[in-house]
Amino acid sequence: MTQIRKPVASDKQQILGFCTNTFSWGDYIHEVYDSWTNEGELVILEENNEPIAMCHGVIYSEEKMLWIEGIRVRQDYRRKGFAELLISHLERNAHDLGISHADMLIESENVPSLNLAAKIGYEIKSQWNYFAVESKKTSYSSLFDSVDYDELNYSELRFVESWRWIPLTRSNFQRLNSDGQILCIRDNKKIQSLGIMTDSRSFDNTMILTILFGKSYGIQKFIQYVQRLALEKNYSKLRILTQQDEIPIVSIQKKFPFYLVEKIL
Ligand SMILES: CC(C)(COP(=O)(O)OP(=O)(O)OC[C@H]1O[C@@H](n2cnc3c(N)ncnc32)[C@H](O)[C@@H]1OP(=O)(O)O)[C@@H](O)C(=O)NCCC(=O)NCCS
Repeated sequence: MTQIRKPVASDKQQILGFCTNTFSWGDYIHEVYDSWTNEGELVILEENNEPIAMCHGVIYSEEKMLWIEGIRVRQDYRRKGFAELLISHLERNAHDLGISHADMLIESENVPSLNLAAKIGYEIKSQWNYFAVESKKTSYSSLFDSVDYDELNYSELRFVESWRWIPLTRSNFQRLNSDGQILCIRDNKKIQSLGIMTDSRSFDNTMILTILFGKSYGIQKFIQYVQRLALEKNYSKLRILTQQDEIPIVSIQKKFPFYLVEKIL
């Protein structure tokens, strides 16, 4: 019998048991499983009394967004429609709460997931690149320009927090701005480059810089600043997310392209 339910304590070991070598680099579910069981909606699919698939959904009420992440189906149960069942369960619950769209991030080479997303009505909204960068001592200046939300005429801007692509609403902007997380550089008074730095709550020790837009000079300043800050604050990982194909830095360790996909519920 197939059943979708909330997690119970005994699920953890079985779920983590098949979330080890999911990708060439391994998996991250063990890092987030505990926080996901306490935050948002972690759903488990059980088949004949065994947990064989999971998925996590987080509701962003103000943004009217359901963020979907961590879809995992045990290898020997794939291609039976279980991922579709889990996602539509989360979508239905979110729709009942007045949520208007569901979003997720898919690696550009993950063909099964891209096909899955397309089959159930998701469309590619934007392409992003992920750069792994080292923290290090740099000659940097923390003098950035101030910026007001009303100057940003881009309703589609997003920033990355805890590996979720969150719309930059006025209240998100104000929260980030009062915490000094918004980096701005102007050129002749006009905003030339804009970045947002966050530290990940679910993922240990990660600082993330989203480059919303910018020119080489500004982006380089942002990167130097966060490299130094990551070192000072003892973050072991520094990640840069941007829609640009290249970033002006020599010591890039890795680059991965991803798609942000969205469905109107
Ligand atoms: C991607 C994944 C979640 C799909 O789970 P699943 O239960 O096998 O998917 P479903 O059976 O619901 O498949 C639904 C559709 O997805 C697509 N799909 C799924 N697996 C596919 C594959 N291996 N190749 C091509 N298309 C595939 C198909 O369109 C499929 O419909 P169809 O069977 O009618 O052709 C599963 O392969 C998995 O756990 N992969 C590793 C983790 C991962 O990549 N997670 C997603 C990160 S964004």
